[in-house]
Amino acid sequence: MTQNLDLTDIQGNIVKAYGSSGFFKARYLFLRVDDGDKGRDFVGAITSKVTSANEKLKGDDALTVTTNMAFTYAGLQALELPTASLVGFPSDFVMGMSKRKDILGDDGPSDPKYWDKIWQEKVHIWISINGKTSDVVEERYQWILQQIKATGGVTLLRGHCGEDGNGNAVDDLPYQDASVLYEKDGVTPTAKEHFGYTDGIGDPVFDGQTNNAARVIGRGKLTRSGDWVPLATGEFILGHVDEAMEYPQTAPRPDLLSNNGTYMVYRKLHENVGTFNKFLDEQSKDYPGGKELLAAKFSGRWRDNGAPLVHTPDNESKAEWDKKFAAADDATQKRMLTDFTYNEDISGAKCPFSAHTRRINPRGSLEYGVKDAFHTPGALVDRRRILRRGLPYGKVKDETSDKGNHGIIFMALNADIKRQFEFVQQQWINYANDFKQGNDKEVLLGNHSSKDPGKVVLQVEPGSGKPPHFVNNIPRLVETRGGDYFFIPSIGALKLIAGGLVDPT
Ligand code: HEM
Repeated sequence: MTQNLDLTDIQGNIVKAYGSSGFFKARYLFLRVDDGDKGRDFVGAITSKVTSANEKLKGDDALTVTTNMAFTYAGLQALELPTASLVGFPSDFVMGMSKRKDILGDDGPSDPKYWDKIWQEKVHIWISINGKTSDVVEERYQWILQQIKATGGVTLLRGHCGEDGNGNAVDDLPYQDASVLYEKDGVTPTAKEHFGYTDGIGDPVFDGQTNNAARVIGRGKLTRSGDWVPLATGEFILGHVDEAMEYPQTAPRPDLLSNNGTYMVYRKLHENVGTFNKFLDEQSKDYPGGKELLAAKFSGRWRDNGAPLVHTPDNESKAEWDKKFAAADDATQKRMLTDFTYNEDISGAKCPFSAHTRRINPRGSLEYGVKDAFHTPGALVDRRRILRRGLPYGKVKDETSDKGNHGIIFMALNADIKRQFEFVQQQWINYANDFKQGNDKEVLLGNHSSKDPGKVVLQVEPGSGKPPHFVNNIPRLVETRGGDYFFIPSIGALKLIAGGLVDPT
C-alpha cells in the first residue's frame, strides 16, 4: 500500500461494502429540496451522522448502523451550489440516468416510463441507512424523519414499489428496503441473489484500501510478472491519480468539493425469476453438462459456491474443486474463488465470452498476446472497473412467476460514470465487438427482447472435434425499475455544501 487515504474524510460506503461487514439490512431514502437555505440546514443535520471510512464496522465497539448521503445534479442545483462549481460536473452526471437510456439499453420493459413512480419526479438527495438489524435501521430512519421535520425545506419522496406491512403490493412506499437473502430457516444470512447465484465475491481493491495483500489477489490488477497489485485510487476516488496516471477529469471545482468524493450509479434491477427458471430448464434439456453447469456458463461462476468456471469447466473438475474447497481454511477458500484470469481460457471453452463475470471484468484477456502493447496486461480493463455496493431487495413468492418486487439494488461506485459503468453496460453487456462475438449480448443482463431474442455460443476447445453449443431464444431476464446518478461528496465537502461555503475561486 503506497497511499495514505484520509479515511475520516471519505464516506464509509466507498472504502468498504457494508453487506460483507455484517450490515445485512438497508433502507434507501430519496428527497427533494424545496428551499435552498433550509435544505442546506438539513444536509448539515444529516452530516453529523454520516459514516466515515474510519469507523469500525466489525468487532467490539463497532457501529451497528451507518448513514451515507449523495446528491443528483438537480439536487446540487437546488442546494444552490455556485455556477462555477456546477459547470465542472461531467455531462453524464448532469443528464442523469433516465436520459442516458439509449446508452444503457433501458428499452422495452426497462424504459424509464415504466420505472417506479418516484423516478417520474426529480430526486435530489439519496440517504442510505445500513444496519446490523432491522430495528437499528428503523431507529435511524425515525431520526432522519425528525431532522426533516426540524429543518423543513426538504420532502421525503414516496413512490417505491414494494409491499406494505401486510404483504400487499403497493406503489407509494417512502423508502426502498434491501436485505441479504436468508436460508430457509429465515435466520442464516447468505450471499445469494434471487436467481440462486452466490454474489459479492469479485470487488476491486484499490491502493490505500487495505494492508491485506491476500485480498488483492484476483481483485486488483495484474502486472506483467503475473502478480496482483491494487488498482490506482483515482479509478474510484476523486482527487487521486488514476490508472492513466492523471487526476480524474470528472472533478468539479474547487478541489475541496471534489477531493475524496466519487460518483454512484443507483439502479433498481428486477429479476424475472419465473422466466429465468423456465428458460434454464428448457435450455438444459439438450445441454450435455446439465442444468447447473449451464447456469454456471451464464454467469462465469457456479451457483452453489461461486466456483470460477475457468477452474471448474465441467462436472468432474467441479467435484474435485469442491473437495479441495471444503477442506481449505478461510484464506485459501477466498483465494480459490478469486485467483484466476481468462488467459488460460482464450478460446472461451471453459468460461464462455457471454458469461456475466467474463464480460464485466475480462481480467486482461482482451489484451492477451499483444506483447508489451500496454504497461500492464489489463491496461484496458483496469480503466473499466467498478465497486459494487448493492444488496438484494424483496422476496420471491412464486418461483414460476416474474410478478412481485424482487431483484437487486445495484449501486456502482466509480470516478467516471461514462468511462466505467456506462462503458461496461453498453459495450460489454449489450455489444460484443470487443469479444468478437457479433451481436451476442451478455446472457443475464442483455436487453434481449421477444422481437430480437438473444443467442449466444458456448465455445469449445479448437481441435476438440466437439460442436459448440448454441443457447437460443434468450428472454429479458433483468429489467430496470428506476435509478439515477449521484455524487457522493467527502465529509469535508458535505460540510461546505451545508454551510453554503463552496467557493470555486
Ligand atoms: C440483477 C442483476 C445482476 C445479477 C443477478 C448479478 C449477479 C452477479 C454474480 C452472481 C456475480 C458473481 C459473484 C462475484 O464475482 O461477485 C457478479 C459479479 C459481478 N457483477 Fe453482477 N449481477 C447483476 C448486475 C450487475 C450489473 C448491472 C453490473 C455492472 C454493469 C454488474 C457487475 C458485476 C461485476 C463487476 C462483477 C465482478 C466480476 C469480477 O470481478 O470477476 N453486475 N454479478
